[in-house]
Amino acid sequence: MLICEHYQTVKTKKTTQPKKTVYVGMCADIIHNGHINIIKEARKYGEVIIGLLTDEAVASYKRVPLLKYESRKLIVENILGVTKVIAQETLDYVPNLQLVKPDYVVHGDDWKTGIQRETRERVMETLKEWGGKLIEPDYNATGGTPSTKLINHLLEGGVTPQYRLGLLRRYLEVKPLIRVLEAHNGLTGLIAEKTKLVKDGKVREFDAIWESSLTDSASKGKPDISAVDITSRIQTIESILEVTTKPVIVDADSGGLPEHFVFTVKSMERLGVSAVIIEDKIGAKRNSLFGTDSGVVQTQDSVEDFSHKISRGKKAQVTSDFMIIARIESLILGAGMKDALKRAEAYICAGADGIMIHSKEKNPDEIFEFCREYRKFANRVPLVVVPSSYNHVTEDEFQKVGINIVIYANHLLRSAYPAMVKTAESILDTGRSLLADQYCMPIKDVISLIPYSEE
Ligand code: SPV
Ligand code: MG
Repeated sequence: MLICEHYQTVKTKKTTQPKKTVYVGMCADIIHNGHINIIKEARKYGEVIIGLLTDEAVASYKRVPLLKYESRKLIVENILGVTKVIAQETLDYVPNLQLVKPDYVVHGDDWKTGIQRETRERVMETLKEWGGKLIEPDYNATGGTPSTKLINHLLEGGVTPQYRLGLLRRYLEVKPLIRVLEAHNGLTGLIAEKTKLVKDGKVREFDAIWESSLTDSASKGKPDISAVDITSRIQTIESILEVTTKPVIVDADSGGLPEHFVFTVKSMERLGVSAVIIEDKIGAKRNSLFGTDSGVVQTQDSVEDFSHKISRGKKAQVTSDFMIIARIESLILGAGMKDALKRAEAYICAGADGIMIHSKEKNPDEIFEFCREYRKFANRVPLVVVPSSYNHVTEDEFQKVGINIVIYANHLLRSAYPAMVKTAESILDTGRSLLADQYCMPIKDVISLIPYSEE
């Protein structure tokens, strides 16, 4: 009896002791042994709370995660030793640390260097406020492989059309601004896919690829007048799709006749293209940046007919993910702001999933004015711009006025072309190619430009 009472008191005493709390922040897009070992380590110090980075938080400093937050949460909350999963809405741990006031934070020591260094410093500063401790197990001993490496390896195998198709909508949900670069063949596709740099502690890269009618035509030595037919455009699109995993937006000119446009929609969707943009012009096509100076009269389609084309396209698509974006040419063709706004409203009504407002002015005032008025719409869809002429405006400025997608529509072609001309001229001028080397990359680099595995 006595023993029993003694046991009772000991037991009560034990349960009244508050458990220590341990905070572990993670993305957990691909779970590997490194994550499990960190959680095992964290358990030694108390109850483990995982601060799971939201999709928006991950997207704020690197590529959007493969798995959505809810899927990642389901996985992590079922890992042995995890008491609770809470959303970490910023890369910065501080808001959650202030909320949880954990006794410990556990993180692999790999963040002492690289882009997470500052995050770590802020964690240490904050923990000091209540005497919390940072525990940093040796990252290499956890057996972890950087998730980014695993993800890149996975992506090298390619993605299915269905998966890629849905990516643009997913990115629009989690990123305030989508950055898009033009590609006109496999090589430029690779540049849009792979070019990255780290700035202000964040990885910057392009989110999506623009398959431009201007640069696809120019790279085939043809003017931008729809002379390159849809079959040929599809060949270019396929060569880009073959070597990339990012969402692709196709410039479908005017979309042609409504009865032809439905087939274009179906073809694009089948390939895994995320969106087409069609412009509200009819008749002989000229590039919009000519404006009305091309000598060929550029006629805008009627609101009714273009709306009809949009709704025919919407009915033709098989998935709900595919997007048809309506491009308004009113500012280019001198029809004015009121007309542009009226058209935006009508095209949204007809089912457009996005509005592209185009301008060829160097001054962005008319674009900004459109954005201000557009914000008053009750029914809005993502807004797209192509700032080829007003190119001094920054992405931050576009974001502030409510633009969701910025397309750099022709820059890879325009930058390659002058170097090619200089090379050709240098050979003609000197009768040899020695001096042309300054415009060329070394042959050794060309050979190893595109790595491949023999296995
Ligand atoms: C393209 O890239 O082909 C476009 C955009 O349509 S623009 O050239 O600005 O009209
Ligand atoms: Mg075009």
